Amino acid sequence: MDLDETIQQLQQQCDEALLAVSTPQDMEEVQIRFLGRKGLIRELFSKLGALSDSEKRHYGEAINQLKNTIESKINQKNESLLATSQTSSASQSFDYSLPGFPYSIGKKHPFTLICEELYRIFRSMNFMVVEDREIEDEYHNFDALNIPKWHPSRKRNDTFFLTDGSVLRTHTSPVEIRTMEQLTPPIRMVTIGGRCYRRDASDATHSAVFHQIEGLVVEENINFCHLSAILSEMMKGVFGKPVEVRFVPSYFPFVEPGAETLISCPFCKSNGCSVCKNSGWIELGGSGMTHPQVLRNVNIDPTKYQGFAFGWGVERLAMIKYGIDDIRLFFENNLSFLEQF
Ligand code: FA5
Repeated sequence: MDLDETIQQLQQQCDEALLAVSTPQDMEEVQIRFLGRKGLIRELFSKLGALSDSEKRHYGEAINQLKNTIESKINQKNESLLATSQTSSASQSFDYSLPGFPYSIGKKHPFTLICEELYRIFRSMNFMVVEDREIEDEYHNFDALNIPKWHPSRKRNDTFFLTDGSVLRTHTSPVEIRTMEQLTPPIRMVTIGGRCYRRDASDATHSAVFHQIEGLVVEENINFCHLSAILSEMMKGVFGKPVEVRFVPSYFPFVEPGAETLISCPFCKSNGCSVCKNSGWIELGGSGMTHPQVLRNVNIDPTKYQGFAFGWGVERLAMIKYGIDDIRLFFENNLSFLEQF
């Protein structure tokens, strides 16, 4: 067989081999078979040695041309193989028939929900919303509030003292003092969700860190009925229906008279249920008429102005509203708890 015929046949064989290629492995085999060190093109070149000089030039050129053609055909096939593999893997990784992902949408923490509700209620009653420091001096946390030096709440096993003698505030009542120091009456202020700290053992209703809502009104001719009305309005806003407010005498050094505040159970209309422990009433926190000495401490004349104040636990309020039975759930970031709201 002469060389012209062999060159033509090789070209044809290569075309057929490339047609049959469907995987990268097939491709590699074809490449080795035609262009490899022991491949068919090399073998063809080795035949040139036996030819005359003019034949060598002629066939050398012809075999080179064949080699270039085969190389470019192999490259083309490689590219088309790569393109098909990319589109097929893309279509395999995206199955249009699958249902969509159930994205879980973030929700507000029950503490945030109740605070937002309280903001809305007190803004609608024209209260100024204030915030103040969590590290307090003893004067504002205790002395200015008429809390005597010997009072048990000032002991180191109740209060967190810092090395410089300041304290982590044990309640939000010092915000009352700081507000009265800065403003002159009439004053109508509330601080919502202020963080407080006590050395209380943690249980279902107590935490060393918790939050209070504190309200203060100082005006002329203010009395207990105004306090009762504001608290009733607040409860109506929180529970979405009228709730009765009841006062039971209690002692707080900064109010006189002072009272524990109870509300009629919004869940059983005071007939008795597990939330109110069958009493029909739920205890929410302290309140009372601002003690004249406290007003004097901030240079407000108690013969001209009267005040009332209240301080309640925000978690306690949220626990009642949302039926949460353990305060520790507020601080655990447990998703299955948070997703209920
Ligand atoms: C006070 O803190 C007074 N400052 C409230 C006050 C303000 C009375 C103005 C009069 C006038 P008491 O210590 O009772 O009062 O706390 C009020 C509320 O805070 C409690 O009813 C409770 O709901 C909440 N609370 C107190 N300690 C904790 C605690 N360790 N964990 C969670 N909530 C607490």
